[in-house]
Amino acid sequence: MIASMARSIFLPPVLIAILLCSCSHPADMPSDEQLSLVSPDGRIALRAYVDTEGRPMLEADWAGQTLLTPSALGFTFADGRPPLRSHQRIASISGPALFEQSYALPWGEADSLYSEATTGTIDFVSQENFHWSVDIRVMNDGMAYRTRFPAQPNADSLFIAEEHSQMNLAGDPTAWWIPGDWDSYEHLYHQTPLWSTDVKANWDSLAILCTTVKSNAVNTPVTLRWPDSDSARAGTHVAIHEAALYDYPGATFRIDTAQRVLETELVGGPHPWKAAVALPFATPWRTLTVAPDAAGLANSRMALHLNAPQTEDPTGNDWSWVKPMKYVGIWWEMHLDKAKWSRWNQDENGDAIIGDPHGLHGATTENTRRYLDFAAKHGFDGVLVEGWNTGWEKWIGFDDREGVFDFVTAYGDFDLVQIAEEARQKGLQLIAHHETSAAVTTYEHQMDTAYALMASLGQRAVKTGYVGPIIPRGEHHHGQWMVQHYQRTVERAAQYGISLNIHEPIKDTGIRRTWPNLMSREGARGQEFNAWAANGGNPPEHNPTLAFTRLLSGPMDFTPGAVHLSLDPYKPNNRVNTSLAHQLALSVVFHSPIQMACDLPEHYEAHPKALAFIKAVPCDWAWSEVIEGEVGEYIITARGEKGGQGRVFLGAINNGVLRELTFTTDFLREHSSTNHTGRWLVETWSDIPTFTATGWALAVTRDTIDVEGEKINFAMLPGAGNARIFTPLKKDGE
Ligand code: NOJ
Ligand code: CA
Repeated sequence: MIASMARSIFLPPVLIAILLCSCSHPADMPSDEQLSLVSPDGRIALRAYVDTEGRPMLEADWAGQTLLTPSALGFTFADGRPPLRSHQRIASISGPALFEQSYALPWGEADSLYSEATTGTIDFVSQENFHWSVDIRVMNDGMAYRTRFPAQPNADSLFIAEEHSQMNLAGDPTAWWIPGDWDSYEHLYHQTPLWSTDVKANWDSLAILCTTVKSNAVNTPVTLRWPDSDSARAGTHVAIHEAALYDYPGATFRIDTAQRVLETELVGGPHPWKAAVALPFATPWRTLTVAPDAAGLANSRMALHLNAPQTEDPTGNDWSWVKPMKYVGIWWEMHLDKAKWSRWNQDENGDAIIGDPHGLHGATTENTRRYLDFAAKHGFDGVLVEGWNTGWEKWIGFDDREGVFDFVTAYGDFDLVQIAEEARQKGLQLIAHHETSAAVTTYEHQMDTAYALMASLGQRAVKTGYVGPIIPRGEHHHGQWMVQHYQRTVERAAQYGISLNIHEPIKDTGIRRTWPNLMSREGARGQEFNAWAANGGNPPEHNPTLAFTRLLSGPMDFTPGAVHLSLDPYKPNNRVNTSLAHQLALSVVFHSPIQMACDLPEHYEAHPKALAFIKAVPCDWAWSEVIEGEVGEYIITARGEKGGQGRVFLGAINNGVLRELTFTTDFLREHSSTNHTGRWLVETWSDIPTFTATGWALAVTRDTIDVEGEKINFAMLPGAGNARIFTPLKKDGE
């Protein structure tokens, strides 16, 4: 699909000059044996060639400094096929060409996007006459490459043992990473100099139910920053990730500290190969985003640019049924142990004692009505109900989980049909919940029945979940088999007009551009850990780290918006380790088109000031801009609402140190219409360090500013935040 949308256009003279100039390196390389690509703005220069041993290599500079030292590409196979590593010959080179695209997004951080890239392809041939190609794109914000294996007489399929794609970063940047876990991304981040990273020594599996860490590898996105001591590259930021992951395992990156090599290590499974692919086949894009600061990384949309355009809506309705929504749900009360997912007491084998209720079941008809009333009263769009279906007595901690859940049988105290009707009458979406407990075959068998039931009840969105070790055994959450499964859920759900929010997912690689019904996912250590992690919850620096790591890949169902921060009386040993304004700001900072307000209705009713912001903040945006930030320290993000009054929402979150910040309001002028006076009403939600029974007190202030030359100063206490709404003041009579 990607190939068919590619379109070469004439190169502007300036670009041709840049491209020609770049062909001088490596110095002794004849120009017909290397592909030189320069980004449209001239800052990134990439060279691809084969070295003296016939190994395909890449190297790259950014702003005149070496970014990638020679980095090899290659593959090894599990079926006796000779490796594609050395002894490769360049058969042909095409490019450079300029590739431009602009496209609309049905929902997201922006309503439309534009990108330009310099593209090229090298076709290689092995000594055994096996053909393969590497497509490369160099953009102003980074570079990407992927391998294509065409169909050919001597191969119709491949059993790939390993992909050896290197990204050997120059110097010794600081890396923010989570382990290259084959089953979970729900780790705290670690910060180490890249070339002395020891994943196993730093790895902790606190409160992670299923984890498989095999080597000195990290997951992606991994974010890096060159230290001030590296004067040539100081402050340059890079994020390494992948785009358009289909039919293939997720990639981790193994760090060879001795050789200073950073190389893909694919997630494996029960077979001697990691990927079995039919030809023709294209791997995901290996991506490297580069920016002069952390904000630049967060403002890149490279992964979307590398995905194929929107596919046709299988329902024939042009995806009009995919609707961004803010939701509340029967969720946090289970994480707090106020209620339970299950209904029945259990016998000594863990089996439900049917007819013997423990009385704490959360998903009852009555309790759901309470949430529906609350959601309707305060203008939310949806209500999630977890624990509605039978099986929760044995959902974790049991080896054989096949058949434990089905996705059509409600507990007897939850009247699904009646509740769906009441939700409809109130104009609310009843969001379905399918916890598979990683019994994936059970889910595969029931997907059609489950989605058909949802469609018949008017349910347009489902949260899925994959807690525990994958059945069948030997498969991993991030391996090829599961990547294919997750994709099947997206495609099958689309046939029924259903959108997905996937927990314990495969990472986001921009597929939402092609499949708009893949709205959100978890894929990181979210709010839930604050309720039950043995170490007391996520430390405050976790959120400004997520903003520059996990969130680079796409929307996250982090479930922000906790307002009762002490978790008292339910969880006396845990608390939400951030302030109230920080929780409000998260709904701006962490984009999710299906955005939760996680706390309990009674807690929101007790915090009307906080609720006012949560009610106002949209979850779908005309534009977004990270104003500034530092990985793991702080971030300030501004986003513009779609339509309406043209309001701008701003969120700032802090780590654990006191911080004073000043920002200019240029973003207001740049993105706003001319139909107003240039003055804005600014409403600010900030923390005051007056401790209340549930956390800090919140101050809401109102002010007006003149956008010309305006600077805003504010301070954030450790763990605090700041949330603002800027409303344009209209000209009289217009
Ligand atoms: C883990 C998910 O992250 C959480 O949101 C959900 O409540 C539980 N699994 C139960 O499905
Ligand atoms: Ca989870």
